[in-house]
Amino acid sequence: MSEATKRPIEGRSGYAGSLSMDDNGNEVTLCGWVHRRRDHGGLIFVDLRDRGGIAQVVFDPTHNQELHAKAEALRSEFVIAVRGHVRPRPEGMENLKLPSGQVEVLVDELIVYNSATTIPFTVEGESEVTENLRLKYRYLDLRRSVVQQRFLLRHRIIGWIRRVLDELAFVDIETPVLTSSTPEGARDYLVPSRLHAGKFYALPQSPQLFKQLLMIAGFDRYYQIVRCFRDEDLRADRQPEFTQLDLEMSFVTREKIFSVIERVFALLYKEVLGERANLTLPQMTYEEAMQLYGSDKPDRRFDLTIANLDPLFKQSEFKVFRKILDDGGTIRGFAAPQTSSFSRSQLDKLVDVVKPLGIQGVVWVKWADGKVQSPIAKYLSATESKQLVEQFKLADNHIAIIIAADRQLALTALGQLRLHFIEQLKLAPKKAFDLLWVTDFPLFIKDDADNITSSHHPFTAPRQEDEANILKAPLKVTSQAYDLVMNGHEIGSGSLRIHSEELQHQVFEVLGLSKTEIQSRFGFFLEALRYGTPPHGGIALGIDRIVALLANCDSIRDVIAFPKTQSGTCLTTNAPSNVSAAQLKELAIKVLSAK
Ligand code: AMO
Repeated sequence: MSEATKRPIEGRSGYAGSLSMDDNGNEVTLCGWVHRRRDHGGLIFVDLRDRGGIAQVVFDPTHNQELHAKAEALRSEFVIAVRGHVRPRPEGMENLKLPSGQVEVLVDELIVYNSATTIPFTVEGESEVTENLRLKYRYLDLRRSVVQQRFLLRHRIIGWIRRVLDELAFVDIETPVLTSSTPEGARDYLVPSRLHAGKFYALPQSPQLFKQLLMIAGFDRYYQIVRCFRDEDLRADRQPEFTQLDLEMSFVTREKIFSVIERVFALLYKEVLGERANLTLPQMTYEEAMQLYGSDKPDRRFDLTIANLDPLFKQSEFKVFRKILDDGGTIRGFAAPQTSSFSRSQLDKLVDVVKPLGIQGVVWVKWADGKVQSPIAKYLSATESKQLVEQFKLADNHIAIIIAADRQLALTALGQLRLHFIEQLKLAPKKAFDLLWVTDFPLFIKDDADNITSSHHPFTAPRQEDEANILKAPLKVTSQAYDLVMNGHEIGSGSLRIHSEELQHQVFEVLGLSKTEIQSRFGFFLEALRYGTPPHGGIALGIDRIVALLANCDSIRDVIAFPKTQSGTCLTTNAPSNVSAAQLKELAIKVLSAK
C-alpha cells in the first residue's frame, strides 16, 4: 500500500461533476452516493454522485486488490468517499453527455460511510413513479439531478431578488407568524393559545397589515421573502403554505413600484433565460383583459381574442339572442384556428367546460362547403351568417364559438373555452414568456353569495376621483390595484393603499362589517392610521409560481421541497396528524368529529 493510501480521507477536494481534463494527474477526494456500479472483466466502475453531478471512479485489482474486493460489496445509494488520481478515460470510453465524461478517478482509498437498502424507485433520470410515491420518499426524489437543479435555481432566483432590493435600499424585516387574521380572501389556519384558553392565533395569509405598520413606523422601503398560509382549495399553482416576495414603499407612485419589479425581472430574465428584457413591461386594464381574453390574467402568447358580436345581432330575428340583448346581456365569441379535426361530439361537449359557471349553451358555427353549419344556422339570416364568417375570417372547416349571456359571465366563459381550445389543440405559443401588468381593477366585486367583497383586499385604495362614491356606488369604484401576469398566471398582486382612517372605515362598512366588528378586528390598525401615516403602496410576488414558470414545471409542488398534496397532506411526515388527549386538554379543545 502506498503512503498516500494510508492517509485518512479529510474532506472532499470538490464536487464530482466538476472534474475535467484540467484535473488530470491530480489527487482528488470525492464524497457522495453510488449512483451505479458496473463490474467489467475485473475492473469495477462506480458512478459517484453528489450535488455537483457524477464522476466515474475505477477500482482496479491490479492496482489495489484489497480495495477492489471491498468495492464488490458496493450497491446503489451506498454513501462513500474515495481518494484517487484523475486520469483520462481510455480512448473511445469517453462519455460526452457528462461534464466529467473525459476523465475517471483510479481509486487509492475507499470509505463506506453507510449502506442503503433497495430504494422504492430509481434515482436515475425521470423515473416513472406516481407523484404520491415520490412525495412519500421526497428525500429520495430530491436526490435526482433534475429535481435538485430546480432547487438550485430557486436558491439563485431568491439571491438575485435580494441583490436588486438591497441595491435599491429595501430593508428586510421579519413579521410574526403567530398573529391575527389578515383578510386575503381565504380561510385562516388557526393555532390555539394555551395561555389564553379558547383564543386562537391565525397564521398570516400575508404580512399585509404589518408591512403597512412598518411604513407608518417610517422604514420607507420594506421587503421580506416570507411564508404565507391560506386554507383554500388546492390546485397546481396553489399550496396551503407558499412563499411571497412581499414589499412596501412609502411616498411612492404606481409606476415607481412597477419599476422596482421590472428591475427584478430584468435580472431574472438575464440570469435565467440569458435574455435582455425590456425594463418597461406592457400594461393592460382589467377591462381590456376581460374583453379580449375573458380573464384578468390573460395568456397573450396565443392570438385567439374575443370579439363583440352585439352590433352584428342588434336586429336579429333569432329570439334567444334578441332576448339576451334586450335584457342587457351580450353576445361574444372567438374563432378557433386549426379546428377542422374537432368532431361534432367534441363540439357538443364544450358546454361541459363552462357549465360550472352557470352557462347552459355554447353555440358553435362552422364554415364548411361554402355554408354555415351550426345548431342555430336556421335562425340566422343570410347577412348574419355572411358577417359572422367575415368577422372571424373563418377558413374552410374552421369554427367560431359564441356565447350569449350576462356580460361578465359570457366573457369569463369564453376565457375558459379559449384556454380549453389552446390546450386541446396544443397550440404553439408565440413566445416562451409573456409578462404584463393588469391595472384598474374594480375595488369591489360580488362574491358567489352575492355579497360585496374586495376584489383584492380591504386596504386597497380607490382611484382618487372615485373616493366620493365608495358608499354611494361601491361597485362602480375603480381601485389602484394591479396584478403581474406571466403566461396566464397571476404571479404578483399589489396596490396603492388607503392611508386615511375615514376612507378605511368606509371600505369596511361597504364590506358589511358592523362598527363593533370593525373595532374588534381592525381597531388597532385604524388607530395606527391616525398617528401620521405616509401615503404608501406595495406588491407581493408568488415566488413558487415564478420559479415553477422559469423552471418549466407544471406545478408549484415541483419547486417546493416538501409540498402538500391536493388534499393538504404532507406524505413525508403524514401531517396533519392526531394529537394526544393530554395536548387537547391543555389547550381546552374538544374534537367534535374526526375524519
Ligand atoms: P395576493 O393574495 O394576490 O396578494 O398574493 C400575492 C401573490 O401570491 C401568490 N399566491 C399563491 N401562491 C401559491 N399558493 C397560494 N395559495 C397563493 N396565494 C397567492 C400569487 C399572488 O399573486 N398582501 C397582498 C399583496 C399586496 O397587496 O401587496 C397579497 O397577498 O402569485
